[in-house]
Order: sequence, then C-alpha cells, then structure tokens
Amino acid sequence: MKLYNQGATPVSVTSPVSFAGLIEKIEILRSTLRWASKLDRPEIEKLLKQATTLRDEVMGLSHKERFVQAASSAEAASESAAEAAPPQPEVERLPRERRQALMERSFIFEGTFGDNPRLLEALEIAEKAAPTDLPVLIDGESGTGKELMAKVIHANGARTDKPFISVNCGAIPDSLLESELFGHKKGAFTGASNDRRGKFESAHTGTIFLDEIGELPLTGQVKLLRVLEAHEIQRVGSDEIISVDARIVAATNKDLRSMSQAGTFREDLFYRLSVIHVSLPALRERRDEIPLLVSYFSDEAAGMLRRAPVRLTPRLRDFLLHYDYPGNIRELRNLLYRLSCLAGDTADLPHLPQDIRPKPAALAVVASGASGADIAMATSLSEAKRAASDEAERAFLERGLQEVGGTVAELARRFDMNRSHLQMLLKKHGIHSKDFRASRQAEAGKG
Ligand SMILES: Nc1ncnc2c1ncn2[C@@H]1O[C@H](COP(=O)(O)OP(=O)(O)OP(=O)(O)O)[C@@H](O)[C@H]1O
Ligand SMILES: [Mg+2]
Repeated sequence: MKLYNQGATPVSVTSPVSFAGLIEKIEILRSTLRWASKLDRPEIEKLLKQATTLRDEVMGLSHKERFVQAASSAEAASESAAEAAPPQPEVERLPRERRQALMERSFIFEGTFGDNPRLLEALEIAEKAAPTDLPVLIDGESGTGKELMAKVIHANGARTDKPFISVNCGAIPDSLLESELFGHKKGAFTGASNDRRGKFESAHTGTIFLDEIGELPLTGQVKLLRVLEAHEIQRVGSDEIISVDARIVAATNKDLRSMSQAGTFREDLFYRLSVIHVSLPALRERRDEIPLLVSYFSDEAAGMLRRAPVRLTPRLRDFLLHYDYPGNIRELRNLLYRLSCLAGDTADLPHLPQDIRPKPAALAVVASGASGADIAMATSLSEAKRAASDEAERAFLERGLQEVGGTVAELARRFDMNRSHLQMLLKKHGIHSKDFRASRQAEAGKG
C-alpha cells in the first residue's frame, strides 16, 4: 500500500493556509493508518512514525517561513540604514541580520519567535552557552519563555539526544523534596515501598531544568549546592554515592540577587547557578514584536484547529497592540487560540475574555476614531501614561523624519541615537521613512 510519495518533500507549500491543509492531510493519513485492518502492527507503527516525522517537518518549515517573511519585511523598512554600512559589532547589527546569522549557523530556535534586540541577545547568549556545561540561570516574568529558552539551550548543545528533565521546585512539598530530586531507598520512610530514582539520576548525561528555583526552601538549597559542587547524590535512606553528570539550567521570576541579600536565597548557590545569566524581557517591553507574534500564533492556532487563520477587526488589533499582557507571551498565545476558536472568520473585541475586554465607554471612543483613543482605552494610570508616551514618541519621530527628508541615518546623527534602535522604534510605530522622502520630493516639485 503506497500512502504518500516519500520522496516528495512539501517545500512548495508557501501560505499558512496550505500548511493547515497539508497538516490536515497528514492527520487523515495518520488516523487511516491507525485503523487499517490489513496491515501488521509493526508496519502500522513504522508508517505512523513516518507520518509524525513529516508533520514535524512541516511545522518546522512553517516556523522557518515566518522567520524569513519577517526578515524580508524588516529588510524593506531598513533599506536606507543598510546602505554602505561598515561591519558592526553584533549588538549594533539590525535584528534581521542577527536572526539571519543565527539561522545560517544552524541555530535551533525550538519555536522561539521574535526579533526584539533583547530577545536576540538572549538567544546569542544561549548559542554560546549551549555547547558548554556551564550552569545557566534564566529570569523573566511568568510566560516570557523561560522553559522554552532552557529547551533551546539543551537542543543546541551536545546533550541534545539525552534527557531533558524538568523539575518545578515550587510544586514539591518540603517533605518530598529530597526524595523527588535524589530518589529514595525502599523503606526509607513511610510510603517508600520501592527503590526510586530521583530527577537528578534521570537527567544523567542530559540536562536538568530547575524551574522556580526561587521557591526552593533553604534546606533544599544546601543539598543542591552539594550536588553542584561534588556532582554526586545519595538516595534518601541509602549510603551509596552515585555520580551524576547533569547540566543545570535554572529559572526564576524572582530577583535572586535581592533574595540573597535579604538572606532568603543562599548567595553561594546564586553565584553557582548564574555563571551564565539570561534575562527575558516582558512582552510590554518589546511591543514591536506583537504584530509578528499575533500572525505567528494565529497561524499556529489555525494549524491546530484545522481552519483558516482568523482575521481581526482593526479595533481588536489595536487592543492587542496596546494591551499590557501581565501573562506575557503565554497570555498572547492563549488569546489567539481563544479568538481562533470562538470567532467565525473575523474576531472582534467581544470575543476577548470578559475580564480584559475594554469597557463600553472606551469602545465608543475607539469606534469614533477620536485621537487619544489609546489613552482613553487605558484601564490603569500606568497604561494611560505609556499610551501617552507612545503617542509623544511617534510625533517626535515623524517630525524628525519630516525635518531630515526621510533620511534615517541623518536623523540618528542629529539625535545622537543608535541607528538600529531608531529603526526599531520606526518599525514599532509602523512609520516608513520613504513616505517622508516622497513628501519632500513632492514639495520640491511644487517649488
Ligand atoms: N519567543 C517566543 N516565541 C514563541 N513562543 C513563545 C516565545 N516565548 C514563549 N513562548 C510560548 O509561550 C508559552 C510560555 O512559555 P514558557 O512556558 O517557556 O514561559 P515561562 O517563562 O517558563 O512561564 P512561567 O514562569 O509561567 O513558567 C509557551 O507556549 C511558549 O512556547
Ligand atoms: Mg515555566
């Protein structure tokens, strides 16, 4: 039975819609295979495995496509700045160049998406740290992608084929902590009915991801420190010393430095864990990413829900661009999945969860298109301030570009600003420098 031509790779697929169609076909193939009665089980398993591989490839290709798309739109916005630019240090290069360079070095993104300079910096650090066994500490608010970053580090290192074991230090009761991390011997305590290995042993030769490390009680911190120093553990109730070789990546949404100054986190452990320190920015500090992430997650949701990507009304788009996202990327992703599921072709404000939906009075201002709508829509003083500051930033940039006739390099010189930072701000506001070149030419033509 020939079910699909294995030689034909799906490289001709270009639009997210056809990705969804292709994924659907693969799913049909998988379920047909699952229920085929005339195949032997091993044969079915083999074909299922092939189909799963094919699906993963398509998803990988979809991520890559989005990266390339985003890179080419950034390219269009930065033509003038790229002209005759001398070689620049990494941090001064344009985001698209930095991401392109990572792709050319076959960096594995694991689905990490975006081209905010701070995110790229985190990825570049991850790239350098990955092949070493140095401990890495990742910090950032909830939902900023800490676990994803830990997987990126694992995937780009030599341990990639070995286990990645995740431990949520905040979710283990104190009394079970030691047994959970290091295992126990049968009879070590009431309920220890068998020998059991702990997370460190499971992570041997691979990576152990210690999530919410700031929640680890002081007694647990002492024990962890000992493992980091000696690379060996003892199961609870056993005298036997077991060597473990696990690469440590830890994550926290707390400020461990302040905690160690306050005496709630051991300073020596903090320094041991944070040999490499990666900080992930909150989504509201990288708003320039939001339009890209919205497209990315609506495609992803469309693929999963097997439908065309949902369209957004302008007022919903506007809301998504200015919302504060206390839950960061996770919240944005969940919102897009919700909108894709609940809306028909087009999603609008009423499809948002009740608790974040703007109040009717604010909606009237938005609908009337009055200026300052973002400020009126703000649901807190800090949000109103941010909206006002965004507004001022935009006006400042537009006036500046007007004065220099749309030449970004000249504007950067005049305001003594880093050119790639300036490009990023223009992109954030959707301002195209060439529009200002055109208006100057039109004025010159009139005169
Ligand atoms: N840059 C990114 N690109 C694409 N997806 C992302 C990105 N960052 C995070 N995500 C997605 O957002 C969700 C949350 O990420 P993750 O679980 O890694 O966050 P976290 O910082 O560990 O959160 P928490 O502190 O709540 O545990 C996941 O679905 C992840 O795939
Ligand atoms: Mg997490």
